[in-house]
Amino acid sequence: MIKIIDLDHEYRKDNNTSIKTLNKVNIEIKKGEFVSIIGHNGSGKSTLAKHLNGLIIPQKGEVLIDDIKVSEDHNIWEIRRKVGMVFQNPDNQFVGGTIEEDMAFGLENIGFPSKDMMGRIEYAANKVGMGNFLKRPPHKLSGGQKQRSAIGSVLAMEPDYLVLDEPTSMLDPKGRKEVIEVLRELNKKDKMTIILITHFMDEVVYSDKVIVMDMGNIVLQGTPKEVFHNKEMLAQINLELPKAAILQELLKAKGINFKDEVLTKEDLVEEIWQLF
Ligand SMILES: Nc1ncnc2c1ncn2[C@@H]1O[C@H](COP(=O)(O)OP(=O)(O)OP(=O)(O)O)[C@@H](O)[C@H]1O
Ligand SMILES: [Mg+2]
Repeated sequence: MIKIIDLDHEYRKDNNTSIKTLNKVNIEIKKGEFVSIIGHNGSGKSTLAKHLNGLIIPQKGEVLIDDIKVSEDHNIWEIRRKVGMVFQNPDNQFVGGTIEEDMAFGLENIGFPSKDMMGRIEYAANKVGMGNFLKRPPHKLSGGQKQRSAIGSVLAMEPDYLVLDEPTSMLDPKGRKEVIEVLRELNKKDKMTIILITHFMDEVVYSDKVIVMDMGNIVLQGTPKEVFHNKEMLAQINLELPKAAILQELLKAKGINFKDEVLTKEDLVEEIWQLF
């Protein structure tokens, strides 16, 4: 379990001023949950994510990964082993000349036995649907394939938690879909805990929990339905509803009413189907 307790963060500037970026943030994430974090630019999402694997050490408050304190220096390698991170730009995440080399590099770094390495690499590559591309250099991959490989490289280290900071924001719609499908499958089949930071509302509708941030504060937290129910609040902080929910509103304006609120495209198709 991940526990974030009363976490504050300030970036100090050269001229002795500081920017408060996190303000008494409290979050609990259970093993096996799919949690999405959304919020406008500069709301503190990346700062929060960096606390989860010790890229930033808590200044005030605490972050606990399975009860291990991120604030204590000697825990840092254990924390990094437990929490895998994937970032926005797929091109910045490759160190190897091929996917296989990239995955091997990470494993060598943690002293993984070389006789078991190929098995682990194939396992991780297959998890992200890249098993047939192991000899490919990154520049011969699509954005979606690159980002899936980056996820594979992290999975090869067998983390307990996977944190992804806007992993789809530089991808085309096809690449975005591929990455989200991989994440959903990892969560469903392997019970992998996923913490997804995104600004695409359509990506968060499949989460167990959505956390909404604004100016360093958590302003909403709940299931996608609970969160997207707060239309006015979301509009105030410049966040849109998922496309299916917008479409439902448009249909309502034309006199087509559904009994329940819909958020996913699948729900919407089902509701329309029931009308006939
Ligand atoms: N290294 C830094 N030094 C100083 N200020 C920073 C630094 N990193 C972020 N900030 C500031 O902290 C605030 C929160 O930034 P953060 O990157 O955590 O937000 P975010 O929600 O991830 O934004 P985005 O959607 O643009 O990725 C912003 O005002 C940002 O300018
Ligand atoms: Mg960010």
